[in-house]
Amino acid sequence: PEPSVLERLERARVVPVVVVDDATQGLGVARALDDGGLPVAEVTFRTSGARAAIEAITAECPGMLVGAGTVVSPRQVDEAVTAGASFLVSPGLSEAVVRAAQEAGVPILPGVATASDIMAALDLGITTVKLFPAGVVGGPGAIKALSGPFGQVRFVPTGGVSAANLPEYLGLPSVLAVGGSWMVDKTLVAAGDLAEITRRTAQAVSLAAG
Ligand code: 3PG
Repeated sequence: PEPSVLERLERARVVPVVVVDDATQGLGVARALDDGGLPVAEVTFRTSGARAAIEAITAECPGMLVGAGTVVSPRQVDEAVTAGASFLVSPGLSEAVVRAAQEAGVPILPGVATASDIMAALDLGITTVKLFPAGVVGGPGAIKALSGPFGQVRFVPTGGVSAANLPEYLGLPSVLAVGGSWMVDKTLVAAGDLAEITRRTAQAVSLAAG
């Protein structure tokens, strides 16, 4: 059978958080990520160009797993899914957003920072969550502590992840994948330095492979 989206994210182990202004920038970044060995992009709804970028990458890069990030309203769920997003990521946990994603049949990683957030996610039938902002809420130590009471939960820590701490996060059995923007730093996108995006991506892929 075809792997599920969460299985594909688990195989990739790294989810690049992408902030781009338009479709052209989005395509350039997507190809740079793919060239680095990581055909995954979480395009964030922080710019007016996010939707067009998701549409363009979905159309031009068929092997790429494209998701939408920073999805904070049911309306954005619909926009992202219409644009072609295969998964959704949110910085926090909104019941309305999660339900809209579930109605659309698209997996969502809601953000959690506390045990109460995780309990709210479990109530909604969600067992894979983004831990955000991972570095601020305790990093790998927080994941170890939360995995005690919540042994069934898989985490995608995001926020402050870098090449330096990626191995420590990915070494935890409850970590499905890590997310982060360091490979696609905004200064690189602005400068059009796709070669450096590819270099950082290949480095992340290599670190993730252990
Ligand atoms: C996110 O949207 O998840 C964060 O902006 C990513 O955090 P980072 O920039 O620290 O990687």
